[in-house]
Amino acid sequence: MKTELVFAIPKGRILEEALPLLARAGIEPEPAFADESSRALQFATNVPGLSLIRVRAFDVATFVAHGAADLGIAGNDVLMEFAYSEIYAPVDLGIGHCRLSVAEPAEMAAGDDPRSWSHVRVATKYPNLTSQHFAARGVQAECVKLNGAMELAPRLGLTQRIVDLVSSGRTLKENGLVEVEKIADVTSRLIVNRAAFKTKAAAIAPWIERFREAAGAA
Ligand code: PRP
Repeated sequence: MKTELVFAIPKGRILEEALPLLARAGIEPEPAFADESSRALQFATNVPGLSLIRVRAFDVATFVAHGAADLGIAGNDVLMEFAYSEIYAPVDLGIGHCRLSVAEPAEMAAGDDPRSWSHVRVATKYPNLTSQHFAARGVQAECVKLNGAMELAPRLGLTQRIVDLVSSGRTLKENGLVEVEKIADVTSRLIVNRAAFKTKAAAIAPWIERFREAAGAA
């Protein structure tokens, strides 16, 4: 009997970069997968037994950590935030390049040194990384958890700083914010549920090699 494998892919920006990588690894999803207007969430592929699910970036790690998905593509931002012991992340896929940074209103930033702050209120999707980052500098961070549109928080007086992903820098610029400190460089990794890697080794191990080759060939 063919081993059933579920592979979780993040929707949004990473999906576009993931499609050529999946193709190089030999995975051709059914056409609806690349159509973000489709309401379907699980998709067949040309590989017998292998289906794809399309979920939010943070949820990829949740599905894989709990073994609901065997494989996934997740940013190291998400992996660091949750530090799931159940996830093995063997391959840097070289896609989704961005950085996790602290930003603040441009008018505050001139001569501002994050090391001189004693307490900060920060809007972020990453309360753990944010608290750890500031704690290592002796600064206590009070995090306001948002799930998107972080850049609005300073403008509307919710917080003065944000910690969020920055790629082109356009979202910060258009909202009057500047980057003051980088917390981490981010790329996407192939992730695997550790228990599935043991019980379905013959099915999963070749995918790790294929994605290593597909990422190297980019
Ligand atoms: C991300 C991130 C920033 C933006 C940065 O959001 O949260 O808002 O991209 O990119 P830029 O530097 O190129 O402007 P995304 O568009 O992925 O959507 P999200 O808010 O749903 O996470």
